[in-house]
Amino acid sequence: MDPRIDAYMAERLQRFDEPVLVEMEAEGARRGFPIVGRNVGVTLEVVARSVGARRVMELGSGFGYSAYWFARAVGPGGEVHCTDGDPANAEAGASFLARAGLGDRVTYHVGDAVEQLSLLDGPFDVVFCDIDKTGYPDAWRAASERIRVGGLYLCDNTLGYGAGTVFDDGDGPEAIREHNRLIAEDERFISTIVPTREGVLVALRIS
Ligand SMILES: C[S@@+](CC[C@H](N)C(=O)[O-])C[C@H]1O[C@@H](n2cnc3c(N)ncnc32)[C@H](O)[C@@H]1O
Repeated sequence: MDPRIDAYMAERLQRFDEPVLVEMEAEGARRGFPIVGRNVGVTLEVVARSVGARRVMELGSGFGYSAYWFARAVGPGGEVHCTDGDPANAEAGASFLARAGLGDRVTYHVGDAVEQLSLLDGPFDVVFCDIDKTGYPDAWRAASERIRVGGLYLCDNTLGYGAGTVFDDGDGPEAIREHNRLIAEDERFISTIVPTREGVLVALRIS
């Protein structure tokens, strides 16, 4: 995405500034940790709210930045299930989200994200995928079964990540291409890629 467009969009979102969110963004920058950033964060909240999401599953939560936006979307009494393979991320995320006043609706599960999904019961209104790219096809296969009709599958980095793009050679880009193809061909869903930042795939379950 053109950095000027990214900055222009982010400038329109300054009213969301609050101390914990700003601290999480600074933490991401300090560690070089790939949080989705504010433009994608607000996109996640908008689409989750638009389907009345109350139960969200995140595959790859890091220290809780994207979960922050889902926790706002589901509101009090909602559920956001976070997953990460690194217990230090889970600890940091639980702490940030509690300090943001959102801890009541967030639960971290430590371990492989797809395996953790299989351990939880019931359908989800939204499943969001942001794990290692080679895991995308399997994440889609597992998640697509678990989304209610009228719910959403969302996935970050579907056009690229870091300096690379979806057109590059390598296991990561190849896995992203397979993931995107499987979704485009799946008639249970209607989907598009919103080209914000590195591409947010949005798939609505219609049958
Ligand atoms: C891109 S970061 C997630 C960022 C987060 N969604 C955000 O925007 O704040 C990916 C995270 O997923 C975790 N991860 C990657 N592959 C995983 C897997 N297969 N199972 C569980 N966690 C995974 C990594 O430890 C890392 O913290």
